[in-house]
Amino acid sequence: MSEGAIAAAAGAEPTKRDFIHIMAGAMAVGLVGGIAWPFIDEMNPSADTLALASIEVDYGKTPLGQQIVVKWRGKPVFIRHRTPQEIAEAVAGDSADLRDPARDEDRHKPGMAEWLIVIGVCTHLGCVPTFGGGKYHGWFCPCHGSVYDTSGRIRSGPAPKNLYLPDYSFLSKSKVKIG
Ligand code: FES
Repeated sequence: MSEGAIAAAAGAEPTKRDFIHIMAGAMAVGLVGGIAWPFIDEMNPSADTLALASIEVDYGKTPLGQQIVVKWRGKPVFIRHRTPQEIAEAVAGDSADLRDPARDEDRHKPGMAEWLIVIGVCTHLGCVPTFGGGKYHGWFCPCHGSVYDTSGRIRSGPAPKNLYLPDYSFLSKSKVKIG
């Protein structure tokens, strides 16, 4: 994570400290149960939110098969380093009967299938999904049981949409700009 992202995430507001604790716990035990993520009022972004319009993240040291979580515009973003098996399962899912149809190749940058970047907010009611649960080996939302595949597409449960994709661009082999 860039210094800017860390500094932003380590601000003095209680909600930001809460975020650090939540994410630290999630990465340590791989479980965040029933945590509703507060949505930002997009129509009236605070000065703080505007300041985080874009962040640069050092993602290059993320081990294969793991993810890092960064805060962007008040929401968690998952940067996942996908294994060949995860990618294969995602591509195989292209031909499934998808609730929110999308090809895996349209959910990552060209030639960058190893890296999937999604907003880590369940599209049902806003909980933070955890990775590794559910039939499709992607993300699982413990609040009401939504299951996402390794492309972040909704496959079962009440969520109506796939995990959203943030705007981002790769600046180098180890740095990505989100926003
Ligand atoms: Fe994720 Fe309801 S908030 S399933």
